[in-house]
This record gives sequence, structure tokens and C-alpha cells, in this order.
Amino acid sequence: MIILKSEREIKMMHEAGKILANCHKEIAKMIKPGVNTLAIDKFAEEYLANYGATAEQKGYQGYPYATCASVNDEICHGFPNLQPLKNGDIVTIDMVVNLHGGLADSAWTHAVGNISPESKHLLKITKESLYKGIEMAQVGNRLGDIGHAIQSYVEAEGFSVVRDFTGHGIGKDMHEDPTVLHYGKPGKGVKLREGMVITIEPMINMGTWHCKIDQNGWTARTVDGKRSAQYEHTLAILPDGPFILTEQE
Ligand code: MF3
Ligand code: CO
Repeated sequence: MIILKSEREIKMMHEAGKILANCHKEIAKMIKPGVNTLAIDKFAEEYLANYGATAEQKGYQGYPYATCASVNDEICHGFPNLQPLKNGDIVTIDMVVNLHGGLADSAWTHAVGNISPESKHLLKITKESLYKGIEMAQVGNRLGDIGHAIQSYVEAEGFSVVRDFTGHGIGKDMHEDPTVLHYGKPGKGVKLREGMVITIEPMINMGTWHCKIDQNGWTARTVDGKRSAQYEHTLAILPDGPFILTEQE
């Protein structure tokens, strides 16, 4: 069941989203060779606490950290750890902020030091695909329009769209209906209505989209060992277009 949100609820989620956006900007300044993702996780948790917010992921279905930190061939749900980031790595930091019951979800992939031209291209296309999807998030369009916009854009570059993980509705719960696929057919799927709040969060692989899950039961990585990137926003569907609640100004 899709739960439509009131103006007041969207405002609360936007307040959470602003904190999340600013936290991502601070994290971007921390990312360099030698830094470890557990230090970033600690920073994020403290940052949120300073604003009276909490990390919704911590404890969610037993997930042990405030953030997900996915490096190189890790697609999502990487565990923050003490391994120092290396020059040339890419790392996706994903987190969900809860401020007084309003949630916002956003992920960002960062370059560590100098990355290869191929990795740069992956990051650029993945980020652009997110915005192609967001452009289609209009009242009266369908979810398939979003998925198709993303899929056609990234596949034209020779990259692939991860199938096993999706965007989602979000509200009082981190994961609500509908499921937002990052691939699909124009004109198909659920019709978008005013007051829907969803995430769009394409995970884009350099090679095949197929993934496997680590022994920890969480971390997804590419089966071919090639890299994966992700950008994610939470957005509300309003009469005058998509309103991004997690935009970094
Ligand atoms: N932010 C993520 C999402 O889009 C990841 C949730 S992972 C979990 O759903 F650890 F919180 F479960
Ligand atoms: Co999400």
C-alpha cells in the first residue's frame, strides 16, 4: 500500500534531508587516501546526534552500523571497517537520517585521491542517471518511465543496472511501497501521484549486473569484480514536479 504524505510530513522529511545533505558534504571533505570508513561512520553518527537526529540504519534488521560504506566492487551494504581507503578507490556512503520521525535517505559515491578515467566516467554517468530518473518523477508519469530513463542512459554507455536492489517509498518507515526499479518500460507500472515520497538510487556496474552476497549476510558485490557506483536522493512528487529532499546545495 502506498502511503501519500501531507505537506507537513514532507516538510519534516525535508528537515531530515537537509541534515543528511550537509553530512554528506562534510564526509566528502574527509575522503582521502588513508582514512578508514569506520572513522567516517563514527563521524556521521556524531554529526547527526549534534542535530538531534539518529541513523535509522543502525539496528535495522540487525544492520550494525550508522552508514553503509561500499568500496570498488561492493555494490551496497558494505560494512564500515578499519581498512584505509587507497588512492584510486571509489567509495559509496549511504545513510538514512531520522529527525523527529521524519526520514530521508541518500547515498553518494566519492573518488579517493586520483581515480582512473574509466572510474570517473562511471561516477559521472551514474550521477547523471539519477537526475534523468528524477526528471521523470512527475505526477501522471509511471514508475516505468523512471526506470527506463535510467536504464537507457547507462546501457548506452556500456554499463549495467543492478537488479537485486531497488529504490523504494519512504515515510515513517525506511522501506515502504512502491518498489522503484532502475530499469523498465515507458508507460508501465504504478502511476505517480501527488504526495508520494520515493527514493531513486541507481547502482550502476562497469561489467555485469549480477551480484553475490558476502559471508556477513549483507554486503553485495559484483560477481566479476568490476566496480559499482551509486547516487541516491529522496524526493517528493508534487504538482509542479519532483522536489528533492536531500539535495546538497
Ligand atoms: N539506504 C539504503 C536503502 O536504500 C540501505 C538500507 S540498508 C540497511 O534502503 F542497512 F539499513 F538495512
Ligand atoms: Co534507499
